[in-house]
Amino acid sequence: MDENLDEIKWTLKKYSQEHLLNGFDNLSEKNQKELLHQIKDIDFDLMKSLYENTKKETKVEDFSIKPIDYVDKDKLYDNYKKYQAIGIEAIKNRKLVAVTMAGGQGTRLGHKGPKGTYDIGLESHKSLFELLSDGLKEQGHKYGVTIPWFIMTSKENNDETVQFFAKNRNFGYEKDKNLFFFKQEELPMMDMEGKILIGEDGLVKEAANGHGGIYQALVKNGMTKKMRELGAEWVFIGGVDNCLVKMVDPVLMGIAIDKHVTAAGKSVVKANPQEKVGVFCKKNGRPSVIEYTEIPKEMAEQVDSNGELVYGESHILCNLFNIDAIERMGSKPLPYHTAFKKATYIDENGNKIVPDGPNAYKFEAFLFDAFGELDDMAIMRVKREEEFAPVKNATGTDSPETARELYRKFNHLS
Ligand code: UTP
Repeated sequence: MDENLDEIKWTLKKYSQEHLLNGFDNLSEKNQKELLHQIKDIDFDLMKSLYENTKKETKVEDFSIKPIDYVDKDKLYDNYKKYQAIGIEAIKNRKLVAVTMAGGQGTRLGHKGPKGTYDIGLESHKSLFELLSDGLKEQGHKYGVTIPWFIMTSKENNDETVQFFAKNRNFGYEKDKNLFFFKQEELPMMDMEGKILIGEDGLVKEAANGHGGIYQALVKNGMTKKMRELGAEWVFIGGVDNCLVKMVDPVLMGIAIDKHVTAAGKSVVKANPQEKVGVFCKKNGRPSVIEYTEIPKEMAEQVDSNGELVYGESHILCNLFNIDAIERMGSKPLPYHTAFKKATYIDENGNKIVPDGPNAYKFEAFLFDAFGELDDMAIMRVKREEEFAPVKNATGTDSPETARELYRKFNHLS
């Protein structure tokens, strides 16, 4: 270990991160090993460049943004039945699996524990995971199949998630047969001076690398291989925090198959030009999502001859991909975006610092940054009140209260 330690110290000195070993002597032997392991895994050049990016002004890139074609599920008329029949056949032939991304930290909600374990306050007191599993089972049942369910966790919440499922008898699923857990990767958090943080346990403070980590996590953990073994071709990927998410949608699948595209996404109409959501578009001729922070005001407000927003198809993290597309998207690293978050940490002198506000950088990749790898993507507009009830904030918009209301209304609960 000594040889290793010398090498590690040299690396830390080179990148001015020597403080990472300040508390080393006070750690248990197990944690000493873990810390050294963590340090060896850090890509210090990447961390250095990510820190440098935090100092750069975000430049509006020189790209061409154009509206993207979409279809409205409500206005498919004769095609509705055609697409539905194609999708149903594929589902019955077990071509579909579902993935729930549950690796996020849910900092805005502030729930202690994985977000999927959160009880949104329905009379049944069902957790988000249970609400999702109810939907998935019911939808599968309709077509006489069990849709295999893949759950992405992070290092931070994996054990608690797996235990929660076990405590609930995996909601009727069978682990490693039709229920699979896999972990996404993490990146160290940094303070405003570019120093990597040490957490309360004396180890490097890491955070999940964003929902864009999904593609690499699926490939590296052998999940796409597993999906192929199960005979699947299509993968629905959604978030854990939309309690109305419809993971099995024959019409969406039918459209993707009929149009020979490798991906299809659902959108809901942007509530107003100022709503803080990303919208589907074409960026340099490729499918993309433009963030509300990036879209120029006049573009956000532009309407067509029917008075509809030209850039009005909100991305709701409900997308369907062909396995080949996932493997292609997982083969290239995505750019990282910086988030400024609140993080408790141990300073260089061993003091615990509990901040009042955001104090640390977290680096995240976004799932839609990979859409540029796709030749085309079919977009289908669905009704917000039927498919989108997100739980993001503790109170106000997109909170348990608003999600509960939407869920009750949709399910005709009083
Ligand atoms: P959000 O971007 O809303 O993040 O995630 P979050 O972690 O739930 O909440 P905040 O921002 O910390 O308050 C949207 C979906 O993507 C998943 C989340 O679990 C959620 O289902 N996600 C996000 C991941 O799986 N991994 C990540 O690294 C980030």
